[in-house]
Amino acid sequence: MIVTKQILTSASLLSSDLANMENEVRRCESAGVDMIHFDVMDGRFVEQITYGSPVLKCVKKITGLPFDIHLMVEDAARQIELFAKAGAELITIHAESSCDVPRCLERIHELGMKASVAIKPNTPAKRAFDFIPQCDMVLVMTVEPGYGGQGFMEDMMPKVAEIRRYADENGFSELDIEVDGGINARTAAKARAAGANVLVAGTSLFGSEDMRALNAALKG
Ligand code: DX5
Ligand code: ZN
Repeated sequence: MIVTKQILTSASLLSSDLANMENEVRRCESAGVDMIHFDVMDGRFVEQITYGSPVLKCVKKITGLPFDIHLMVEDAARQIELFAKAGAELITIHAESSCDVPRCLERIHELGMKASVAIKPNTPAKRAFDFIPQCDMVLVMTVEPGYGGQGFMEDMMPKVAEIRRYADENGFSELDIEVDGGINARTAAKARAAGANVLVAGTSLFGSEDMRALNAALKG
């Protein structure tokens, strides 16, 4: 049975005004954004270093919005423990990182959070298939991880459709599919059409004059 999935938005703080994080989170709340996307980079899996669990712990005190943690790190196992303590609701780990992916997904669930696996643009969809029974969500990167503000890779859409089809045909129709990178009103429509239902947006949301209108446009 094909389930019609609820479309959710997740605002990537990386492209917000980080000097005013509380204001930016408030904007997300009043715009009706569903989640906050929290990009964790370690300077090894990707070039940059962003923020970690101590920052999450502070922001959790000022909002009830759920946090969607995107770990772009080599040592995900250690970070999972720290982010659970800091109050994360959902953790994504990369299939390409050096961690023990099945064990990490299991641990995320043991700690009471939702678990997700991400694949980079050069990683085929089938790399995610084995992990799907252990996942609440699969994240298909639509840019190379590392930086906000890049252009959407439309050629990732067949990969989204392939994962959607595989999940539906194998008894995992509840699986969420998230896309991350270059999402705006126009590209969100393509991602939704391919079968994605969780849309990460940084530059487009935080750069918009009317965040509420843009959030509604992303949902279609
Ligand atoms: C890239 C990050 C993305 C990024 C999205 O490595 O994972 O979450 O911040 O930002 P935009 O929407 O600007 O592409
Ligand atoms: Zn991200």
